[in-house]
Amino acid sequence: MADFAKDNAASTPRTIYLKDYQPPAYLVDEVSLRFELEPATTRVNSRLVVRRNPGAETSDGALQLHGQNLELAAIQVNGAALDEADYQLDDEQLLLDGLDDGAVIEIETLIHPDTNTALEGLYISSDMFCTQCEAEGFRRITYFPDRPDVMTRFTTTLVADKARYPVLLSNGNPVDQGEMEDGRHWVTWQDPFPKPSYLFALVAGNLYCQEDSFRTRSGRNVTLKIFVEPENRNKCDHALASLKQAMKWDEDTYGREYDLDIFMIVAVNDFNMGAMENKGLNIFNASCVLASPETATDADYYNIQSIIGHEYFHNWSGNRVTCRDWFQLSLKEGFTVFRDQEFSSDLNSRPVKRISDVNVLRSFQFAQDASPMAHAVRPDAYMEISNFYTVTVYNKGAEVVRMICNLVGREGFRKGCDLYFDRHDGQAVTTDDFVAAMEAANGIDLTQFRRWYSQAGTPVIGASGQYDAQTRTYRLTLTQQCPPTPGQEHKEAFHIPVELALLDSSGQPLALQLEGESSPAGNHRMLELKQTSQQFEFTGIREQPVLSLLSGFSAPVKLQMERSDEELAFLFAHDPDSFNRWNAGQTLASQTLLQLIEQVQQNATLSLQDNFVQAFRKTLQHADLDHALITQALSLPSESYLADQCASVDVDAIHTAREFMRKQLAEQLYDSFLDVYRNPGPDKPYRFDAASMGRRSLRNLCLSYLLESGSDEARELCLSQLQHTHNMTDTLAALSSLSQHNWPERVEQLNRFYDRWKPDPQVIDKWFSIQAGSRLPDTLQQVESLLTHPAFRITNPNKVRALVGKFCMGNQVRFHSSDGEGYRFLTDRVLELDSINPQMAARLVSALSRWKRFDSERQGLMQNELQRILAVTGLSRDVFEIVSKSLD
Ligand code: BES
Ligand code: ZN
Repeated sequence: MADFAKDNAASTPRTIYLKDYQPPAYLVDEVSLRFELEPATTRVNSRLVVRRNPGAETSDGALQLHGQNLELAAIQVNGAALDEADYQLDDEQLLLDGLDDGAVIEIETLIHPDTNTALEGLYISSDMFCTQCEAEGFRRITYFPDRPDVMTRFTTTLVADKARYPVLLSNGNPVDQGEMEDGRHWVTWQDPFPKPSYLFALVAGNLYCQEDSFRTRSGRNVTLKIFVEPENRNKCDHALASLKQAMKWDEDTYGREYDLDIFMIVAVNDFNMGAMENKGLNIFNASCVLASPETATDADYYNIQSIIGHEYFHNWSGNRVTCRDWFQLSLKEGFTVFRDQEFSSDLNSRPVKRISDVNVLRSFQFAQDASPMAHAVRPDAYMEISNFYTVTVYNKGAEVVRMICNLVGREGFRKGCDLYFDRHDGQAVTTDDFVAAMEAANGIDLTQFRRWYSQAGTPVIGASGQYDAQTRTYRLTLTQQCPPTPGQEHKEAFHIPVELALLDSSGQPLALQLEGESSPAGNHRMLELKQTSQQFEFTGIREQPVLSLLSGFSAPVKLQMERSDEELAFLFAHDPDSFNRWNAGQTLASQTLLQLIEQVQQNATLSLQDNFVQAFRKTLQHADLDHALITQALSLPSESYLADQCASVDVDAIHTAREFMRKQLAEQLYDSFLDVYRNPGPDKPYRFDAASMGRRSLRNLCLSYLLESGSDEARELCLSQLQHTHNMTDTLAALSSLSQHNWPERVEQLNRFYDRWKPDPQVIDKWFSIQAGSRLPDTLQQVESLLTHPAFRITNPNKVRALVGKFCMGNQVRFHSSDGEGYRFLTDRVLELDSINPQMAARLVSALSRWKRFDSERQGLMQNELQRILAVTGLSRDVFEIVSKSLD
């Protein structure tokens, strides 16, 4: 294999550009697949019926079939075998020329599921065959135009040993089955809906099936099936209940019904992502579907409901209407995240959901926007598409859809969606088509708004208000500016919906009348900021108001505004918008923490102002506030969010300041925390509903503060909670708080937990994660020794995420330790993983990409590690792209 020894320049992966998009030369109307499933070598026979694409740019292009790591065993066109001169083959594609319409191509390939550790294409997880084809995994199964704008009707026959693999599944409906004399059996599945290859799936294994049904609003009966390994048979109820909620919600909210007679979900242990929306056969990471009160936390329950919703909603936003090319990924992902966010908001607490979504956006997406990996919601170039399943495409993409919804209103948004689905059902389209449908349905112009799709970076909004008591006017000046990002030095102004209210001294919103309007209308407004600077004049304002800006986080921007601590404390207590009330508390905490950080850096004595403590006390004792909202209000901004606010990141000062604040709050509010913790006591049996979840979250927050005080009483409470609770939420909360303290009970309780739960891999992931997230100084040594623990497996993404991912992305102070050991550890893992699972390796290595934000010593250490990676020959495209862009 001498020709693989390419020099570095030759092996640099090429970049794919949006501007180079060309429609395919051929379309595939039908494909029949036959799999003879064997772990070591699976034989795949495919039969394609092709015709020229009338929409192609020229009429003489070749048929391009993608293929990767395939052994080509045979190829025929219209029944005649080809020899090597009849086609062009390299390690990425097979090209065929001059085919007539209706030509039949038959291909036999051999693949090796049992050595597939990348978990793309066909692989094995716990003695079960499964597939993952998005984005470009189908080409690892057979030669095919593996691009989303080729939509095909699939018929799939699976053949396998009946005893070992009694269940054989694929997309669509089962249409035939039979048994063979050699102990094998077969099932044929037919999917009536044309789909791109990335939505293909198959599963074969020995699986338990829990069945249910759903009656659509037009009266059709849909069979629902969840397939899991037999030991997980008692963990399916929540997913099934969530699925029925999702089906109902999409009917009620979007008027969209499910379209096949059967909907299946399969849980697998080895999976790169959370879950996948394959037509009629969703495949889920076991951690995102299985739940029982004893083994899953409230967060797990919540997450399962939303991800079941997400994948189900893709049936319309993604499957029926799909993406023309992968630059359009946010068309399906941003829209579907918006849909799952609304689903969760409608079923649970809306403000709580909004706050946690904004937390994700601010902690991760804003950070990405400020990094060398910054890209637009619709990127214009990539080397490896797997690297673009990002918080920008997903979460900022959802914010962009949300802004459209803010601009056109709920009803207008629904009209726009109806038109979009009507116009494009069965098609592969672009984000532009989505926006165009919104424009057409609402008679508006979103030309300027489209910049949200093409320009990267987080806009910064400046706001200043001036009140004139004489004329009773309030003049608000809003400005916008967006920092440069790689390849985009200069940005054009965005079209930004800015929701606001003006509050009087008791916190009541004032009636709003803009200059030029004949009478006041309402007490909150959505202003449209389109220029770099704009003024808005409100008249008839009877007193100096307090500005409540960007209510509900109406746009994904940073706000720059002078605010006194008093003003923030006022908003924290009174803002009628729950999101803004929380936000004022976070801003107040951040301002206070930034001062403490400075004090740490100057070696000054740290002190916490009393009015800050009092603001927290008031919130804690606020009897009629939703418990979950109190929890969020009393949770301090994360160390990584604080890092984002600093000109240069001083990880130790940030950690010290935040710990100091937590300890101060714990000591000064000790009795209040204790009161709330004791009253109203734990609930049993476990129930998943907003009220009980809120109660558990508040009690566990109190417990974690109480432990900060170091009192024996708190320690006793924690141990007693560990001993007496039977739900994982309370157990895990107590254990993870305990694991932050170097007490003798720590190891004892961790061991006990392990012994209790060692047969359950999902619970053991939590055990790894708790230890990797500990602030104790020897955490890296612990993590390193856990790498050799019998329950750890580097080939399992959940284990890698729980241990390595948690340490490198969720433990800022230990990962960034000044000796650089954390960076070396990460680099070693990335290099180890790159040949096993490049997607996982690339996701981990991005922990180094923000190196320029740190002090010069750390910069040097991180840069060295990035260079150490880049120097390795044979890097995957995935890792190469992240590392080379990070160093640029
Ligand atoms: N289509 C994706 C899953 C996917 C992405 C598979 C990239 C392969 C490559 C799926 O719809 C998805 O977005 N899943 C998310 C969870 C969701 C709730 C945001 C995931 O897996 O993290
Ligand atoms: Zn998705």
